[in-house]
Amino acid sequence: MQKLIDKAKIEHTLSKSEIVEILKDNSINDYLFKNADEVRKNYTGNEVYLRALIEFSNICHCDCKYCGIRRDNKNISRYRLEKKEILQLANYAVQSGYKTIVLQSGEDIFFTAEYLAEIIKGIKQNDIAVTLSIGERTFDEYKILKEAGADRFLLRIETTDENLYAQMHPQMSLENRKQCLFNLKQLGYETGTGSLVGLPGQTPESLADDILFYKKLNADMIGIGPLIVHPETPLKDEKNGDLILAIKVLALTRLLLPDINIPATTAMETLHPQGRILALQAGANVIMPNITFEQYKKSYEIYPNKVSVNYESLKTELAKIGRSISCKKGFRGNHDRT
Ligand code: 5AD
Repeated sequence: MQKLIDKAKIEHTLSKSEIVEILKDNSINDYLFKNADEVRKNYTGNEVYLRALIEFSNICHCDCKYCGIRRDNKNISRYRLEKKEILQLANYAVQSGYKTIVLQSGEDIFFTAEYLAEIIKGIKQNDIAVTLSIGERTFDEYKILKEAGADRFLLRIETTDENLYAQMHPQMSLENRKQCLFNLKQLGYETGTGSLVGLPGQTPESLADDILFYKKLNADMIGIGPLIVHPETPLKDEKNGDLILAIKVLALTRLLLPDINIPATTAMETLHPQGRILALQAGANVIMPNITFEQYKKSYEIYPNKVSVNYESLKTELAKIGRSISCKKGFRGNHDRT
């Protein structure tokens, strides 16, 4: 098994059955994490990129079975930020030294591509990268947003298992989601995707397919998170995802796509106080602090007890593991390896 990991570290390839073998064998976890950490260091350096997250609307027309802001959850208060509030938060991010803003929302068509384009143009008056995470739109809408100045786009595939995808996402299709991702790539976005680990019925084989899909797409960013069960969703009686399995998927992704950006996701830390640090030492090189106004944070409850990051304690925590906060935008392949 160590040989497989050694091979992946040099060649950055593994077959489906090799990935499955590694996922199933927990005796090699430390070796896997250590090697993924080395690949991270060699390709992206010791700097950690921060991305300031603005959750600008929790209104969503999708009804994903796991998600707390799904359409059918009547037990949350819904909000939408106005353009001027979004620009105010973006300004705060710029003043605080962030070099990337992530605009995230439910699938809320109130925000037309034209309206979002105005917001993006406003933000891009500053020297800051803009990432969108607003779900599925048409090619033409993605094009308008790109032309307005958006740099990156996050759209997790969630799972590449066709049956599981259909069960989890009523009225949606895996095929269309894949098409959206290829459209984003074609339009020149730095494109991020990723999976939920721990969906009911998910197998190591399907996780291996997910990792191979990231490679096929040549994704520029990958966000992996364990499922955290939300009590107001149809998955309320299921178990949470396994943090270690999620970190294994992250580490394998680092081995196969050595120079991409990989966040230590909030879901990892929410599940375990050490989750963020573990991820940062198993391949991750990005953190996404949430800068949404306090009064709205609690309504953007994708899953319960979402933690947030404190900038000063983060700096200390990172220093302890030999890492520092980058002051760069952090595009793929533009890492400071000194
Ligand atoms: N637990 C963990 N992650 C979740 N997401 C949605 N619901 C949950 C949940 N219950 C993730 C999805 C989505 C991202 C924004 O949040 O993967 O892409």
